[in-house]
Amino acid sequence: MKTILLAGGAGYIGSHTAVELLNSGYAVVVVDNYSNSCPESLKRVEQITGKKVKAYEADVADKKALEKVFEENKIDAVIHFAGLKAVGESVAKPVEYYRNNIDTTLTLLETMKKFGVENIIFSSSATVYGEDNKVPYTEEMKRGTCTNPYGWTKVMMEQILEDTAKANKEMGVVLLRYFNPIGAHESGLIGEDPQGIPNNLMPYVAQVAVGRRDHLTIFGQNYPTPDGTCRRDYIHVVDLAKGHVKAIDYVFGMKGVEIFNLGTGTPYSVTEIVTTFERVNNLKLKYEYGPARAGDLPESYANADKAFKVLGWKAEKTLDDMCRDLWKWQSMNPNGFKK
Ligand code: NAD
Ligand code: WQD
Repeated sequence: MKTILLAGGAGYIGSHTAVELLNSGYAVVVVDNYSNSCPESLKRVEQITGKKVKAYEADVADKKALEKVFEENKIDAVIHFAGLKAVGESVAKPVEYYRNNIDTTLTLLETMKKFGVENIIFSSSATVYGEDNKVPYTEEMKRGTCTNPYGWTKVMMEQILEDTAKANKEMGVVLLRYFNPIGAHESGLIGEDPQGIPNNLMPYVAQVAVGRRDHLTIFGQNYPTPDGTCRRDYIHVVDLAKGHVKAIDYVFGMKGVEIFNLGTGTPYSVTEIVTTFERVNNLKLKYEYGPARAGDLPESYANADKAFKVLGWKAEKTLDDMCRDLWKWQSMNPNGFKK
C-alpha cells in the first residue's frame, strides 16, 4: 500500500482528499500546525472512512519535525496543501504570507530530496492566470500578473517546483490549479470552517443562512457579465478531492511537470449562486448589493479538457449538489468543528 503525506491535510481540501485517498486504498499521513484547522476534522475523516489517519502536529517549515515524519513513515508521494490562503490578509501581511507559503514548500522539497521521495502534487490556484489571460483559462497560458501577495506566492511556488524538477529528472510534479472549491462531504461531517469573518462567498452565504451573520453583501453589480455580477467556476470539493486521487495515480508513472486545471468549465454568477442556494435548500437569504471588491476579476473559469484527456477526471457534481451539501454541513455544524 502506498503512503501519501498530506501537508496541511487537516484543512478544508486536505480532509476531503484524505477521505477519497483512504477510500481508494492509499494510506495517509498528515502534518498540520492547525493554524487554520483542528484535529477534529481528521477524527471525522476516520469516522467517514473507518480507517486510521496518522497525524503530526507540526509546522511544515520546521525541518527537524518534518524529517521525523519522513523517518517514521515510508512516504511515496506528497500533496502540499499547507499554506495561508486569505487574499485580503495577504495584502495586509505580505511577509507572513511569503514566509509561510514559500518556507513550507522549500522545507518539503529539501526533506523529500534527503529521503529520496520524488513525487509531489501541489495545490495551486486559478489565481496564477492573473489579470492578463482571457477566459476560459488553459494550462499552457503564461502565468499572469497577480493582484495580491497570496497569488504571487502561488506563482513563485509553481516556479520553484518547475525549477526543482528541471534539476532532478527523476521527479514527478503535478501542479493542480483549483478554481473555486465549495460544498462539503455528503455525510455533513466535514466541510469548510473558516476562522472569523469568512472571506469567500459560500462560507459567508452558509453563515447568513444559519444565522451567524446578518446579511450577505454582493460585491458589485455592473461587471461586464450577463447579470452584472462576477462569474466563477465553482467546483464541488469532493470532485476536487477525487481529482487528487487521479493525480496521485498519474504521478507515479510520470517525470517532469504537468499542470491541470481542476474546474467544471461552467461559470455561475453571484446572483445565480444566491438563488440556487435558496431554491435547493428552500430558504431565504438576506442580501444587498454593495460596491465592487478591489482586485476582483469579472470572470474566472477553466477549460477543463486536459484533466479529462490525461487523467480521465471530470467534475460530476452540479451546483445544486454543491449548495445542498454545503447547507447540510453548515446546518449539522452551525459553529463548524467547535461544539
Ligand atoms: P485550509 O486553510 O483549510 O487548509 C490549509 C491547511 O494548511 C490548514 O489545515 C492549515 O492549518 C495548514 N497550514 C498552513 N500553514 C501551515 C504550516 N506552516 N505548517 C503546517 N500546516 C500549515 O485551506 P484549503 O482551502 O484546504 O486550501 C488548501 C490549499 O489549496 C492551500 O494551499 C490553498 O492556497 C490552495 N487553494 C485553495 C483554494 C480555495 O478556494 N479553498 C483555491 C485554490 C487553491
Ligand atoms: C467569489 C465571488 C466575489 C464574498 C478566491 C481567491 C482565489 C481562490 C478562491 C485560492 C466574487 C463575490 C464574495 C462576499 C460577494 N483561492 N463575493 N460577497 O475571489 O473568486 O477567489 O478564492 O487560491 O485565489 O481569490 O472567491 O469566494 O472570495 O468570491 O459578492 O461576501 O463572490 O466578489 O465575485 P474568488 P470568493
